[in-house]
Amino acid sequence: MTDLPLPDQLNRLMNGFWHTQAIYVAAKLGLADLLVAGPQAAEQLAVNTRTHPRALYRLLRALASLGVFVEDNQHRFALTPMAECLRSDIPGSVRSLAIMRGEWQYEAWGQLLHSVQTQQSAFEKIHGMPLFEFLGQHPEKGQLFDAAMTGVHGRETSAMLQAYDFSEIKTLADIGGGNGEVLTSILKRYPTLRGILFDLPAVAERTRAHVEALGLSERCVVIAGSFFDSVPTGADAYFLRHIIHDWDDEKAITILRHCRQALGERGKLLLVEGLIPPGNEPAISKFFDLAMMVVPGGMERTEDEYRQLLAASGFCITRIVPTATWVSVIEAEPLTRA
Ligand SMILES: C[S@@+](CC[C@H](N)C(=O)[O-])C[C@H]1O[C@@H](n2cnc3c(N)ncnc32)[C@H](O)[C@@H]1O
Repeated sequence: MTDLPLPDQLNRLMNGFWHTQAIYVAAKLGLADLLVAGPQAAEQLAVNTRTHPRALYRLLRALASLGVFVEDNQHRFALTPMAECLRSDIPGSVRSLAIMRGEWQYEAWGQLLHSVQTQQSAFEKIHGMPLFEFLGQHPEKGQLFDAAMTGVHGRETSAMLQAYDFSEIKTLADIGGGNGEVLTSILKRYPTLRGILFDLPAVAERTRAHVEALGLSERCVVIAGSFFDSVPTGADAYFLRHIIHDWDDEKAITILRHCRQALGERGKLLLVEGLIPPGNEPAISKFFDLAMMVVPGGMERTEDEYRQLLAASGFCITRIVPTATWVSVIEAEPLTRA
């Protein structure tokens, strides 16, 4: 790409939304699932997806040029390793994520200008309510969001388990634990560990069923509530992955102070977040930061900003453990004077 003239380089960057929408439509139509049985012509896929055969052919041809699907010499399309990720029946599927990106997140990014003018969530401007209230009121979108979290963050779990040792913890409370993918993975790795998963009522109800289905209910309780009121007591470590980045400093401090109160004088706080590096180097956290501003109204932070935020909440950082992905484990303990 750097060999291209500068206007063409910029042009490519500008075309990002073409890709978002093309992948979204393929995901929404379930094309990857339909191709599991083998290659098919666009005409056949169009019958099964109630789409226009020529238009569907054009979509698939464009996606094949990106390595998502491949066309053979009989004009049939097949899965590629990248298209496999859009199947709904595979672990770590990104199908829900592609749908979420192409629907309400796309709509919110269309109002990025509003967020840059105000530092307020564009999503909230469009829907008249914050993201998590909206998801509570629209259970089908809430379910999609839960699944999309595994699509976007699922691969961070094994990297975190490789990097961080949970063996000294007896009871781990996953605050805002969502669909339970992280906590159940940790519980499977540490057979004597007990877990508490805390999330909003609609999410907790779905996750309780999932924990039961995995046979982990004996070691894992699922508790419904809001971390703006309090968090459950009884754990020696409080774990929050991609929670603090959803919120501005004031709200983040409220959540962290509730963890501090529940923890008492001893124990650990573990935040799993991406840290914004200094300088101009490419870092996905710099764009996640914009995504947090536009959708929930939060922000990604630098290491210094986390140090200040945690100090204001009664914690001090003991170490920061990088992982093989963009996230680090920020380990903190209560400040004794808090
Ligand atoms: C970005 S998701 C992260 C989910 C999970 N920790 C993960 O890493 O996959 C944020 C989570 O915070 C939960 N949440 C939002 N507001 C909450 C509140 N007031 N109280 C408890 N949980 C909340 C959401 O339901 C969602 O599961």
